[in-house]
Amino acid sequence: MCGIVGYIGNRESQDILIEGLKKLEYRGYDSAGIAVFTQEGLEVRKSIGRLANLEGKLEGDPLHGSVGIGHTRWATHGKPSDANSHPHTDNSHKFSVVHNGIIENYLELKEELIAKGRHFVSETDTEVISHLIAEEYDGDIVQAVQRAVKHMRGAYALGVLTEYEPDRLVAVRFASPLVIGVGKGENFIGSDIPAILEYTRDVYILNDGEMAVLTTNAVELMTIEGEVISKEIFHVDWDLVTAEKAGFDHFMLKEIYEQPKAYRDTMMGRVSEDGRSVVLKEIGMTAEQIRGIRKVHIVACGTAFHAGLVGKTVIEGLARIPVETDVASEYRYRSPIITPDTLVIVVSQSGETADTLAALREAKRNGARVLAITNVVGSSVAREADDVIITQAGPEIAVASTKAYTSQLIAFNLFGLYLAQVLGTRDEAFVAEVLEAMHKLPEQVEAIIEQAPVLKQVADSISTHNNLFFIGRGVDFAVAQEGSLKLKEISYIHSEAYAAGELKHGTLALIEDGIPVIAVITQKDLYEKTLSNIKEVKARGAHVLGVVNAGMEEEVGKSVDELFVIPKTLQLLSPTLSVIPLQLISYYASLARGNDVDKPRNLAKSVTVE
Ligand code: F6R
Repeated sequence: MCGIVGYIGNRESQDILIEGLKKLEYRGYDSAGIAVFTQEGLEVRKSIGRLANLEGKLEGDPLHGSVGIGHTRWATHGKPSDANSHPHTDNSHKFSVVHNGIIENYLELKEELIAKGRHFVSETDTEVISHLIAEEYDGDIVQAVQRAVKHMRGAYALGVLTEYEPDRLVAVRFASPLVIGVGKGENFIGSDIPAILEYTRDVYILNDGEMAVLTTNAVELMTIEGEVISKEIFHVDWDLVTAEKAGFDHFMLKEIYEQPKAYRDTMMGRVSEDGRSVVLKEIGMTAEQIRGIRKVHIVACGTAFHAGLVGKTVIEGLARIPVETDVASEYRYRSPIITPDTLVIVVSQSGETADTLAALREAKRNGARVLAITNVVGSSVAREADDVIITQAGPEIAVASTKAYTSQLIAFNLFGLYLAQVLGTRDEAFVAEVLEAMHKLPEQVEAIIEQAPVLKQVADSISTHNNLFFIGRGVDFAVAQEGSLKLKEISYIHSEAYAAGELKHGTLALIEDGIPVIAVITQKDLYEKTLSNIKEVKARGAHVLGVVNAGMEEEVGKSVDELFVIPKTLQLLSPTLSVIPLQLISYYASLARGNDVDKPRNLAKSVTVE
């Protein structure tokens, strides 16, 4: 995820910026840059790749000056490149900006700015901001920033400098974190506390719509409307490792908590302003090409494959196109029937999984069009696919995938609705209803996460067992499979996921007294059938936890030992909620067993071998 650091004081800012950016490296990035006021004016250095590349550039050509901003970029708009790295400047090179977040309406703004004679050198949304601020400037940088942000829709944390006012550093936040570090005779900004922790432990945490104007000796806080505000200083007593995890014990837990933001970010810019349709500008397929799709193959590995299982239900349900879902390592070898009217969707968080990449190449060799759903701009999968939907989950550090999986589900729902719009299989009112329900999901995820203590209790009792079953029907079976994988990989408890109706065809023999069974039951038309399967396992002594949609608790409650109720949503969207308790149960079970949650044994984050 992108990182911001900024400094104003009396020391060489270059060193402080580089050290701050190093503290953000763990978050992942693909390029870096800094801007410093030197005697020659505002100067920028940037470089693709590791920070060492930027340091190499600075070694031969250092920037001397005591005010500067720096950035590590995780590509979202435009590939990783020197030109796309931050800081960005306007055409006069008098204004410089670093930005975290996504500007939803950047294309419209870009067109307006081009019409005013501004020219662009990057593909980023951020460059729009530097031009906007330059346009709005009439002698006061604070007012220029306040006016500029009024044009912007989306999420932003900004650090802004102008050569016209070299004694001020402006910071502003909306829906993307930003902190102000207060020092003695020097002040700092950081997207995250680790960036500035070496220099100060006193910080102001900006809220949405707030900004700060930093000078060497003062920090002035105000709203973007210009109203002066005061804030308590937050004294950070975390060590660096705790600060990297934003105070969470593990990256996995942090990433589970980041899911509401990942949902919002993945939807951002992809829904029309009136909320009634999906806008996927990144899809290059024409309506005619979409109408020509006869079948869809979804290909992926592990958790991404489980997202594909949900994707199958979504696409078949919304667009009425037949979908096959394959594990990537099997796909090529089963001699799949791939024709030019097949759309192959590859799903990969990293975009580098060898089997998924090989499947993509096989699909292309056979003349199919390939759509990639991936979290990494510029990854191999993203580069080689015909169309790419980037899930805006931000870098995932824990080996066990959580926020990447759920943002893949969001991407599938957006794509399914998009197909339905083009094909006319669903009307506008239906699409609007689903989008409205999707907008509610982030808050509903938060409500589930608030129940973490209850799930910890469930996990503590599960952690003493060596075997466990997950059951479900339809899309609940897909979620059960993800729940089972999550539990296995980090708690090392053996578990299996079964289509609930399939148990009695053999596996029921394994059910014995006290064995835990987790039943996912969110589909109204199927729950009665699952209840009879629950009776089968209960009759053999199983202890059953039911994960159910609100409204089903009374009916299901009679048949299970414990209940966890997820907030009410459309059936189609229930996997985006029902998986959250399963993630938390896995996390706490792993913790109870004293395992290395973030780095489970024998596993790697990116699997680049077949
Ligand atoms: C499990 C997990 C893996 C990955 C799989 C594919 O939590 O993360 O199962 O989903 O290795 O990885 P990507 O999505 O990078 O292709």
